[in-house]
Amino acid sequence: MESRLEILILAAGKGTRMRSDLPKVLHKLAGKSLLGHVVDTAHELGAAQVCVVYGFGGEAVLQSMADDRLTFVLQAEQHGTGHAVKQALPQLADGSVTLVLYGDVPLTHTATLQPLVTAAQAGKLGLLTVNLAHPDGYGRIVRENGKVTRIVEHKDATPAERTIHEVNTGILAVATRQLKRWIAELKNDNVQGEYYLTDIIALAVRDGVDVETHQPSYEWEVLGVNSKAQLAQLERIHQNEIAQALLDAGVTLMDPARLDVRGTLTCGRDVAIDVNCVFEGRVKLGDGVQVGANCVLRNVTVAAGTRIDAFTLIDDAEIGEANRLGPFSRIRPGTTLARDVHVGNFVEIKNSQIDDGSKINHLSYVGDTTMGKRVNIGAGTITCNYDGANKHRTVIEDDVFVGSDTQLVAPVTVGRGATLGAGTTLTKDAPAGELTLARAKQLTLSGWTRPVKKVRGEG
Ligand code: UD1
Ligand code: CA
Repeated sequence: MESRLEILILAAGKGTRMRSDLPKVLHKLAGKSLLGHVVDTAHELGAAQVCVVYGFGGEAVLQSMADDRLTFVLQAEQHGTGHAVKQALPQLADGSVTLVLYGDVPLTHTATLQPLVTAAQAGKLGLLTVNLAHPDGYGRIVRENGKVTRIVEHKDATPAERTIHEVNTGILAVATRQLKRWIAELKNDNVQGEYYLTDIIALAVRDGVDVETHQPSYEWEVLGVNSKAQLAQLERIHQNEIAQALLDAGVTLMDPARLDVRGTLTCGRDVAIDVNCVFEGRVKLGDGVQVGANCVLRNVTVAAGTRIDAFTLIDDAEIGEANRLGPFSRIRPGTTLARDVHVGNFVEIKNSQIDDGSKINHLSYVGDTTMGKRVNIGAGTITCNYDGANKHRTVIEDDVFVGSDTQLVAPVTVGRGATLGAGTTLTKDAPAGELTLARAKQLTLSGWTRPVKKVRGEG
Protein backbone atom coordinates (compact mmCIF):
# COMPACT_ATOMS: atom_id res chain seq x y z
CA MET A 1 0.00 0.00 0.00
CA GLU A 2 1.20 3.49 -0.85
CA SER A 3 1.95 5.83 2.01
CA ARG A 4 3.65 8.79 0.31
CA LEU A 5 1.19 11.69 0.30
CA GLU A 6 0.97 14.20 -2.52
CA ILE A 7 -1.54 17.03 -2.44
CA LEU A 8 -3.13 18.60 -5.46
CA ILE A 9 -4.71 22.02 -5.02
CA LEU A 10 -7.13 23.14 -7.72
CA ALA A 11 -6.96 26.90 -8.06
CA ALA A 12 -7.60 27.73 -11.70
CA GLY A 13 -11.13 29.06 -11.34
CA LYS A 14 -11.81 32.65 -12.41
CA GLY A 15 -13.81 33.84 -9.43
CA THR A 16 -15.95 36.19 -11.51
CA ARG A 17 -18.26 36.91 -8.59
CA MET A 18 -15.42 38.46 -6.58
CA ARG A 19 -15.58 41.38 -9.06
CA SER A 20 -11.87 41.95 -8.68
CA ASP A 21 -8.72 42.06 -10.79
CA LEU A 22 -6.99 39.89 -8.21
CA PRO A 23 -7.22 36.11 -8.80
CA LYS A 24 -9.77 34.69 -6.37
CA VAL A 25 -7.33 32.48 -4.45
CA LEU A 26 -5.12 35.49 -3.66
CA HIS A 27 -7.82 37.31 -1.73
CA LYS A 28 -6.92 37.40 1.93
CA LEU A 29 -8.55 35.78 4.91
CA ALA A 30 -7.02 36.71 8.28
CA GLY A 31 -4.15 38.39 6.46
CA LYS A 32 -3.20 35.32 4.43
CA SER A 33 -4.31 34.40 0.92
CA LEU A 34 -6.97 31.72 0.55
CA LEU A 35 -4.40 29.63 -1.31
CA GLY A 36 -1.88 30.26 1.48
CA HIS A 37 -4.28 28.73 3.99
CA VAL A 38 -4.71 25.62 1.86
CA VAL A 39 -0.96 25.31 1.21
CA ASP A 40 -0.30 25.54 4.97
CA THR A 41 -2.87 22.80 5.59
CA ALA A 42 -1.12 20.66 2.96
CA HIS A 43 2.25 21.12 4.67
CA GLU A 44 0.70 20.33 8.07
CA LEU A 45 -0.55 17.03 6.67
CA GLY A 46 3.05 16.20 5.79
CA ALA A 47 2.67 16.20 2.01
CA ALA A 48 5.78 15.05 0.17
CA GLN A 49 4.72 17.23 -2.73
CA VAL A 50 2.17 20.03 -3.06
CA CYS A 51 1.06 20.75 -6.58
CA VAL A 52 -1.04 23.82 -7.45
CA VAL A 53 -3.10 23.96 -10.64
CA TYR A 54 -3.41 27.61 -11.57
CA GLY A 55 -4.96 29.43 -14.49
CA PHE A 56 -6.61 32.80 -14.28
CA GLY A 57 -4.17 35.52 -13.19
CA GLY A 58 -1.38 32.96 -13.44
CA GLU A 59 1.67 35.18 -12.99
CA ALA A 60 0.25 36.83 -9.88
CA VAL A 61 -0.44 33.44 -8.31
CA LEU A 62 3.11 32.25 -9.04
CA GLN A 63 4.70 35.40 -7.67
CA SER A 64 2.62 35.56 -4.52
CA MET A 65 3.48 32.03 -3.47
CA ALA A 66 7.24 32.19 -3.12
CA ASP A 67 7.46 28.70 -1.65
CA ASP A 68 9.98 26.36 -3.23
CA ARG A 69 8.13 23.35 -1.85
CA LEU A 70 5.34 23.95 -4.39
CA THR A 71 4.99 22.64 -7.92
CA PHE A 72 2.86 24.73 -10.27
CA VAL A 73 0.91 23.46 -13.23
CA LEU A 74 -0.92 25.71 -15.66
CA GLN A 75 -4.46 24.91 -16.74
CA ALA A 76 -4.71 27.45 -19.55
CA GLU A 77 -8.40 26.80 -20.27
CA GLN A 78 -10.84 25.55 -17.69
CA HIS A 79 -12.72 22.49 -18.85
CA GLY A 80 -13.76 21.18 -15.45
CA THR A 81 -12.28 19.71 -12.30
CA GLY A 82 -11.35 16.43 -14.04
CA HIS A 83 -9.52 18.40 -16.73
CA ALA A 84 -7.72 20.40 -14.02
CA VAL A 85 -6.50 17.22 -12.31
CA LYS A 86 -5.40 15.81 -15.66
CA GLN A 87 -2.97 18.71 -16.20
CA ALA A 88 -1.15 17.79 -13.00
CA LEU A 89 -1.01 14.01 -13.42
CA PRO A 90 2.50 13.94 -14.97
CA GLN A 91 3.80 15.62 -11.78
CA LEU A 92 2.32 13.02 -9.44
CA ALA A 93 4.33 9.92 -8.47
CA ASP A 94 2.72 6.54 -9.16
CA GLY A 95 3.65 5.13 -5.78
CA SER A 96 1.78 7.79 -3.82
CA VAL A 97 -1.72 8.71 -2.73
CA THR A 98 -3.19 12.00 -3.94
CA LEU A 99 -5.41 14.26 -1.84
CA VAL A 100 -7.36 16.81 -3.88
CA LEU A 101 -8.02 20.17 -2.20
CA TYR A 102 -9.42 23.47 -3.51
CA GLY A 103 -7.62 26.79 -3.42
CA ASP A 104 -10.82 28.60 -2.50
CA VAL A 105 -11.79 26.35 0.45
CA PRO A 106 -9.51 27.74 3.17
CA LEU A 107 -10.71 26.49 6.55
CA THR A 108 -10.64 22.69 6.46
CA HIS A 109 -9.12 21.20 9.61
CA THR A 110 -6.32 18.68 9.15
CA ALA A 111 -8.23 16.34 11.49
CA THR A 112 -11.02 16.29 8.91
CA LEU A 113 -8.66 15.43 6.06
CA GLN A 114 -6.48 12.86 7.78
CA PRO A 115 -9.10 10.04 7.66
CA LEU A 116 -9.42 10.48 3.88
CA VAL A 117 -5.65 10.09 3.51
CA THR A 118 -5.69 7.04 5.77
CA ALA A 119 -8.49 5.50 3.67
CA ALA A 120 -6.50 6.10 0.46
CA GLN A 121 -3.40 4.61 2.06
CA ALA A 122 -5.52 1.51 2.79
CA GLY A 123 -6.44 1.18 -0.90
CA LYS A 124 -9.85 2.87 -0.70
CA LEU A 125 -11.19 6.11 -2.08
CA GLY A 126 -11.73 8.60 0.73
CA LEU A 127 -14.47 11.13 0.00
CA LEU A 128 -15.49 14.13 2.09
CA THR A 129 -19.24 14.74 2.00
CA VAL A 130 -21.55 16.99 3.95
CA ASN A 131 -25.30 17.14 4.55
CA LEU A 132 -26.67 20.53 3.59
CA ALA A 133 -30.12 21.95 4.28
CA HIS A 134 -29.90 23.70 0.91
CA PRO A 135 -27.94 21.44 -1.43
CA ASP A 136 -28.71 23.40 -4.63
CA GLY A 137 -25.79 23.66 -7.03
CA TYR A 138 -23.72 20.90 -5.46
CA GLY A 139 -22.95 17.44 -6.74
CA ARG A 140 -25.19 14.87 -4.99
CA ILE A 141 -23.94 11.66 -3.41
CA VAL A 142 -25.97 8.79 -4.87
CA ARG A 143 -26.11 5.70 -2.66
CA GLU A 144 -27.59 2.26 -3.16
CA ASN A 145 -28.18 0.17 -0.03
CA GLY A 146 -26.14 2.76 1.83
CA LYS A 147 -23.10 2.41 -0.43
CA VAL A 148 -21.94 5.29 -2.60
CA THR A 149 -22.30 4.42 -6.29
CA ARG A 150 -21.67 7.73 -8.02
CA ILE A 151 -21.91 11.52 -7.84
CA VAL A 152 -24.35 13.41 -10.01
CA GLU A 153 -23.85 17.14 -10.61
CA HIS A 154 -26.83 19.35 -9.80
CA LYS A 155 -27.27 20.38 -13.43
CA ASP A 156 -27.32 16.75 -14.58
CA ALA A 157 -29.48 15.45 -11.72
CA THR A 158 -33.08 14.22 -11.98
CA PRO A 159 -35.71 15.84 -9.74
CA ALA A 160 -35.50 12.79 -7.48
CA GLU A 161 -31.69 13.06 -7.24
CA ARG A 162 -32.00 16.76 -6.42
CA THR A 163 -33.83 15.86 -3.20
CA ILE A 164 -30.59 14.28 -1.88
CA HIS A 165 -29.07 16.42 0.87
CA GLU A 166 -25.71 14.67 1.07
CA VAL A 167 -23.38 16.60 -1.23
CA ASN A 168 -19.87 16.38 -2.58
CA THR A 169 -17.35 18.78 -1.06
CA GLY A 170 -14.96 18.02 -3.93
CA ILE A 171 -12.28 16.88 -1.48
CA LEU A 172 -11.11 13.31 -1.97
CA ALA A 173 -8.05 11.05 -1.63
CA VAL A 174 -7.07 8.00 -3.63
CA ALA A 175 -4.04 6.05 -4.87
CA THR A 176 -2.36 8.11 -7.60
CA ARG A 177 -2.01 5.14 -9.95
CA GLN A 178 -5.81 4.62 -9.89
CA LEU A 179 -6.48 8.34 -10.24
CA LYS A 180 -4.39 8.41 -13.41
CA ARG A 181 -6.28 5.47 -14.87
CA TRP A 182 -9.74 6.90 -14.16
CA ILE A 183 -8.96 10.46 -15.25
CA ALA A 184 -7.89 9.07 -18.63
CA GLU A 185 -11.37 7.58 -18.98
CA LEU A 186 -13.36 10.75 -18.26
CA LYS A 187 -15.78 12.03 -20.88
CA ASN A 188 -17.46 15.42 -21.13
CA ASP A 189 -20.87 14.21 -22.27
CA ASN A 190 -22.79 16.16 -19.65
CA VAL A 191 -24.91 19.29 -19.47
CA GLN A 192 -21.86 21.56 -18.88
CA GLY A 193 -19.61 19.85 -21.44
CA GLU A 194 -16.93 19.57 -18.72
CA TYR A 195 -14.64 16.81 -17.52
CA TYR A 196 -15.96 16.06 -14.04
CA LEU A 197 -13.54 14.79 -11.42
CA THR A 198 -16.66 13.48 -9.68
CA ASP A 199 -17.14 10.85 -12.40
CA ILE A 200 -14.21 8.88 -10.96
CA ILE A 201 -16.48 7.73 -8.12
CA ALA A 202 -18.54 5.54 -10.43
CA LEU A 203 -15.29 4.24 -12.01
CA ALA A 204 -13.92 3.35 -8.58
CA VAL A 205 -17.10 1.46 -7.76
CA ARG A 206 -16.88 -0.34 -11.12
CA ASP A 207 -13.30 -1.40 -10.32
CA GLY A 208 -14.29 -2.70 -6.88
CA VAL A 209 -12.55 0.08 -4.92
CA ASP A 210 -14.37 0.92 -1.68
CA VAL A 211 -15.61 4.49 -1.36
CA GLU A 212 -15.29 5.55 2.27
CA THR A 213 -17.03 8.80 3.17
CA HIS A 214 -16.22 11.14 6.02
CA GLN A 215 -17.89 14.33 7.17
CA PRO A 216 -16.30 17.48 8.61
CA SER A 217 -16.96 18.53 12.21
CA TYR A 218 -18.28 21.89 11.00
CA GLU A 219 -20.04 22.76 7.78
CA TRP A 220 -17.85 25.85 7.29
CA GLU A 221 -14.77 23.67 6.96
CA VAL A 222 -15.88 22.83 3.43
CA LEU A 223 -17.31 26.19 2.41
CA GLY A 224 -15.69 27.81 -0.60
CA VAL A 225 -15.32 31.49 -1.34
CA ASN A 226 -17.06 32.76 -4.45
CA SER A 227 -17.97 36.30 -3.44
CA LYS A 228 -16.88 39.05 -1.09
CA ALA A 229 -19.88 38.24 1.08
CA GLN A 230 -18.71 34.64 1.50
CA LEU A 231 -15.16 35.86 2.15
CA ALA A 232 -16.43 38.16 4.91
CA GLN A 233 -18.52 35.34 6.36
CA LEU A 234 -15.56 32.95 6.53
CA GLU A 235 -13.38 35.71 7.99
CA ARG A 236 -15.82 36.07 10.91
CA ILE A 237 -15.99 32.29 11.40
CA HIS A 238 -12.21 32.04 11.43
CA GLN A 239 -11.77 35.03 13.75
CA ASN A 240 -14.30 33.51 16.13
CA GLU A 241 -12.31 30.27 16.13
CA ILE A 242 -9.12 32.18 16.99
CA ALA A 243 -10.90 34.13 19.74
CA GLN A 244 -12.31 30.94 21.27
CA ALA A 245 -8.82 29.39 21.28
CA LEU A 246 -7.44 32.47 23.08
CA LEU A 247 -10.23 32.32 25.65
CA ASP A 248 -9.54 28.62 26.16
CA ALA A 249 -5.88 29.52 26.75
CA GLY A 250 -6.93 31.93 29.52
CA VAL A 251 -6.72 35.25 27.68
CA THR A 252 -9.28 37.88 28.73
CA LEU A 253 -11.07 39.30 25.68
CA MET A 254 -13.49 42.12 26.45
CA ASP A 255 -15.44 41.03 23.37
CA PRO A 256 -14.39 37.99 21.35
CA ALA A 257 -16.41 39.36 18.41
CA ARG A 258 -14.27 42.49 18.28
CA LEU A 259 -10.78 41.10 17.83
CA ASP A 260 -8.85 40.52 14.62
CA VAL A 261 -5.80 38.31 14.41
CA ARG A 262 -4.10 38.34 11.02
CA GLY A 263 -1.16 36.11 11.75
CA THR A 264 -0.20 34.45 15.03
CA LEU A 265 -0.88 35.89 18.44
CA THR A 266 0.87 34.15 21.33
CA CYS A 267 -0.12 35.17 24.86
CA GLY A 268 1.30 34.47 28.30
CA ARG A 269 -0.79 34.17 31.47
CA ASP A 270 -3.33 36.81 32.47
CA VAL A 271 -3.21 38.82 29.29
CA ALA A 272 -6.18 41.15 28.77
CA ILE A 273 -7.24 42.64 25.44
CA ASP A 274 -9.87 45.34 25.10
CA VAL A 275 -12.14 45.76 22.05
CA ASN A 276 -11.22 46.46 18.42
CA CYS A 277 -7.57 45.46 18.53
CA VAL A 278 -5.82 44.16 15.42
CA PHE A 279 -2.80 41.85 15.61
CA GLU A 280 -0.82 41.29 12.44
CA GLY A 281 2.13 39.05 11.62
CA ARG A 282 3.80 37.52 14.67
CA VAL A 283 2.78 39.11 17.92
CA LYS A 284 3.88 37.84 21.35
CA LEU A 285 2.39 39.23 24.55
CA GLY A 286 4.09 38.30 27.82
CA ASP A 287 2.45 37.53 31.17
CA GLY A 288 0.09 40.17 32.47
CA VAL A 289 0.22 42.39 29.38
CA GLN A 290 -2.82 44.65 28.99
CA VAL A 291 -3.83 46.06 25.63
CA GLY A 292 -6.35 48.90 25.56
CA ALA A 293 -9.09 49.48 23.01
CA ASN A 294 -8.33 50.14 19.32
CA CYS A 295 -4.65 49.19 19.28
CA VAL A 296 -2.84 47.80 16.25
CA LEU A 297 0.23 45.60 16.84
CA ARG A 298 2.21 44.25 13.92
CA ASN A 299 5.23 41.95 14.37
CA VAL A 300 5.78 42.94 17.97
CA THR A 301 7.07 41.29 21.12
CA VAL A 302 5.80 42.74 24.38
CA ALA A 303 7.41 41.56 27.62
CA ALA A 304 5.61 40.85 30.88
CA GLY A 305 3.68 43.46 32.80
CA THR A 306 3.53 46.10 30.10
CA ARG A 307 0.39 48.17 29.66
CA ILE A 308 -0.55 49.53 26.25
CA ASP A 309 -3.30 52.12 26.39
CA ALA A 310 -5.95 52.85 23.75
CA PHE A 311 -5.22 53.84 20.15
CA THR A 312 -1.58 52.80 20.15
CA LEU A 313 0.06 51.51 16.96
CA ILE A 314 3.22 49.43 17.17
CA ASP A 315 5.05 48.15 14.13
CA ASP A 316 8.09 45.83 14.05
CA ALA A 317 9.33 46.63 17.53
CA GLU A 318 10.46 45.01 20.75
CA ILE A 319 8.78 46.26 23.88
CA GLY A 320 10.34 45.38 27.23
CA GLU A 321 8.91 44.65 30.66
CA ALA A 322 6.68 46.91 32.72
CA ASN A 323 6.40 49.65 30.10
CA ARG A 324 3.52 52.10 29.82
CA LEU A 325 2.61 53.04 26.27
CA GLY A 326 -0.18 55.21 24.97
CA PRO A 327 -2.82 56.35 24.68
CA PHE A 328 -2.13 57.47 21.09
CA SER A 329 1.50 56.37 20.82
CA ARG A 330 3.09 55.30 17.57
CA ILE A 331 6.10 53.00 17.70
CA ARG A 332 7.72 52.41 14.33
CA PRO A 333 10.11 49.74 12.97
CA GLY A 334 13.50 49.17 14.53
CA THR A 335 12.55 50.37 17.98
CA THR A 336 13.50 48.62 21.22
CA LEU A 337 12.17 49.79 24.52
CA ALA A 338 13.94 48.33 27.57
CA ARG A 339 12.39 48.10 31.06
CA ASP A 340 9.98 50.55 32.70
CA VAL A 341 9.89 52.92 29.73
CA HIS A 342 6.97 55.35 29.46
CA VAL A 343 5.76 56.60 26.10
CA GLY A 344 2.74 58.86 26.17
CA ASN A 345 0.22 60.52 23.91
CA PHE A 346 1.15 61.78 20.45
CA VAL A 347 4.67 60.44 20.69
CA GLU A 348 6.29 58.85 17.66
CA ILE A 349 9.42 56.72 18.05
CA LYS A 350 11.30 55.31 15.08
CA ASN A 351 14.40 53.13 14.85
CA SER A 352 15.52 54.00 18.37
CA GLN A 353 16.79 52.19 21.44
CA ILE A 354 15.40 53.50 24.68
CA ASP A 355 16.96 52.18 27.88
CA ASP A 356 15.47 51.44 31.32
CA GLY A 357 13.32 53.98 33.07
CA SER A 358 13.29 56.66 30.37
CA LYS A 359 10.15 58.72 29.78
CA ILE A 360 8.83 60.45 26.69
CA ASN A 361 5.38 61.37 27.79
CA HIS A 362 3.96 63.98 25.44
CA LEU A 363 3.97 65.18 21.84
CA SER A 364 7.46 64.21 20.71
CA TYR A 365 9.32 62.69 17.78
CA VAL A 366 12.29 60.49 18.57
CA GLY A 367 13.98 58.98 15.52
CA ASP A 368 17.33 57.25 14.96
CA THR A 369 18.18 57.78 18.61
CA THR A 370 20.12 55.90 21.25
CA MET A 371 18.77 56.90 24.63
CA GLY A 372 20.28 55.84 27.97
CA LYS A 373 18.64 55.12 31.31
CA ARG A 374 16.36 57.45 33.31
CA VAL A 375 16.21 60.11 30.61
CA ASN A 376 13.29 62.53 30.77
CA ILE A 377 12.15 64.05 27.51
CA GLY A 378 9.95 67.15 27.84
CA ALA A 379 6.82 67.76 25.78
CA GLY A 380 7.29 68.79 22.18
CA THR A 381 10.84 67.52 21.80
CA ILE A 382 11.96 66.65 18.29
CA THR A 383 15.03 64.88 17.00
CA CYS A 384 15.85 66.45 13.64
CA ASN A 385 17.34 63.29 12.19
CA TYR A 386 16.92 64.06 8.51
CA ASP A 387 18.79 66.80 6.66
CA GLY A 388 16.84 66.24 3.47
CA ALA A 389 19.35 63.74 2.14
CA ASN A 390 20.68 61.59 4.97
CA LYS A 391 19.55 60.41 8.37
CA HIS A 392 21.77 61.01 11.39
CA ARG A 393 21.78 59.61 14.92
CA THR A 394 21.12 61.35 18.16
CA VAL A 395 22.75 60.02 21.31
CA ILE A 396 21.25 60.92 24.69
CA GLU A 397 23.19 59.45 27.60
CA ASP A 398 21.93 58.33 31.03
CA ASP A 399 20.10 60.73 33.35
CA VAL A 400 19.71 63.53 30.82
CA PHE A 401 16.84 65.98 31.27
CA VAL A 402 15.55 67.55 28.08
CA GLY A 403 13.34 70.61 28.54
CA SER A 404 10.15 71.04 26.54
CA ASP A 405 10.12 72.17 22.92
CA THR A 406 13.72 71.21 22.27
CA GLN A 407 15.10 70.32 18.85
CA LEU A 408 18.14 68.07 18.66
CA VAL A 409 19.76 68.51 15.27
CA ALA A 410 21.55 65.23 14.54
CA PRO A 411 24.22 64.08 14.55
CA VAL A 412 24.44 65.26 18.13
CA THR A 413 25.29 63.81 21.55
CA VAL A 414 23.97 64.89 24.92
CA GLY A 415 26.40 63.82 27.66
CA ARG A 416 25.43 61.92 30.79
CA GLY A 417 23.47 63.94 33.33
CA ALA A 418 23.20 67.00 31.07
CA THR A 419 20.20 69.32 31.17
CA LEU A 420 18.86 71.07 28.06
CA GLY A 421 16.86 74.22 28.67
CA ALA A 422 13.36 74.44 27.26
CA GLY A 423 13.17 75.71 23.71
CA THR A 424 16.77 74.87 22.85
CA THR A 425 17.78 74.12 19.29
CA LEU A 426 20.80 71.94 19.90
CA THR A 427 23.26 71.87 17.02
CA LYS A 428 26.46 70.97 18.89
CA ASP A 429 27.13 68.29 21.49
CA ALA A 430 26.00 69.15 25.02
CA PRO A 431 28.62 68.36 27.70
CA ALA A 432 27.86 65.94 30.52
CA GLY A 433 26.51 67.31 33.77
CA GLU A 434 25.99 70.88 32.53
CA LEU A 435 22.99 73.01 31.62
CA THR A 436 23.01 73.85 27.94
CA LEU A 437 20.50 76.16 26.35
CA ALA A 438 20.17 78.10 23.13
CA ARG A 439 17.53 80.73 23.54
CA ALA A 440 17.04 84.37 22.51
CA LYS A 441 17.27 86.63 25.55
CA GLN A 442 13.91 87.61 27.01
CA LEU A 443 13.22 91.34 27.10
CA THR A 444 10.39 93.55 28.23
CA LEU A 445 9.53 96.95 26.63
CA SER A 446 7.80 98.81 29.41
CA GLY A 447 5.10 101.30 28.44
CA TRP A 448 4.58 99.70 25.02
CA THR A 449 0.96 99.88 23.83
CA ARG A 450 -0.89 97.71 21.38
CA PRO A 451 -1.92 99.20 18.02
CA VAL A 452 -5.62 100.19 17.95
CA LYS A 453 -7.89 99.46 14.96
CA LYS A 454 -8.67 102.57 12.91
CA VAL A 455 -12.38 103.57 12.70
CA ARG A 456 -13.57 104.44 9.12
CA GLY A 457 -14.19 108.11 8.48
CA GLU A 458 -11.73 109.25 11.09
CA GLY A 459 -8.63 111.26 10.08
C1 UD1 B 1 -17.56 20.98 -7.82
C2 UD1 B 1 -17.99 19.54 -7.87
C3 UD1 B 1 -19.32 19.37 -7.11
C4 UD1 B 1 -19.16 19.85 -5.68
C5 UD1 B 1 -18.63 21.27 -5.68
C6 UD1 B 1 -18.28 21.69 -4.27
C7 UD1 B 1 -17.21 18.70 -10.01
C8 UD1 B 1 -17.56 18.35 -11.40
N1 UD1 B 1 -18.18 19.17 -9.25
O1 UD1 B 1 -18.54 21.78 -8.43
O2 UD1 B 1 -19.69 18.01 -7.10
O3 UD1 B 1 -20.38 19.76 -5.00
O4 UD1 B 1 -17.42 21.37 -6.46
O5 UD1 B 1 -18.01 23.07 -4.28
O6 UD1 B 1 -16.08 18.52 -9.60
N2 UD1 B 1 -11.41 24.36 -10.98
C9 UD1 B 1 -10.27 24.37 -11.72
N3 UD1 B 1 -10.35 24.16 -13.06
C10 UD1 B 1 -11.53 23.91 -13.69
C11 UD1 B 1 -12.70 23.91 -12.92
C12 UD1 B 1 -12.62 24.12 -11.56
O7 UD1 B 1 -9.18 24.58 -11.20
O8 UD1 B 1 -11.50 23.74 -14.90
C13 UD1 B 1 -11.33 24.58 -9.54
C14 UD1 B 1 -11.97 25.88 -9.11
O9 UD1 B 1 -11.01 26.92 -9.05
C15 UD1 B 1 -12.51 25.56 -7.75
C16 UD1 B 1 -12.78 24.06 -7.81
O10 UD1 B 1 -12.05 23.58 -8.90
O11 UD1 B 1 -11.54 25.78 -6.76
C17 UD1 B 1 -14.26 23.72 -7.93
O12 UD1 B 1 -14.78 24.35 -9.07
P1 UD1 B 1 -16.22 24.97 -9.06
O13 UD1 B 1 -16.55 25.41 -10.43
O14 UD1 B 1 -16.35 25.91 -7.95
O15 UD1 B 1 -17.09 23.71 -8.60
P2 UD1 B 1 -18.18 22.97 -9.42
O16 UD1 B 1 -17.58 22.42 -10.66
O17 UD1 B 1 -19.34 23.85 -9.54
CA1 CA C 1 -18.46 25.19 -12.02
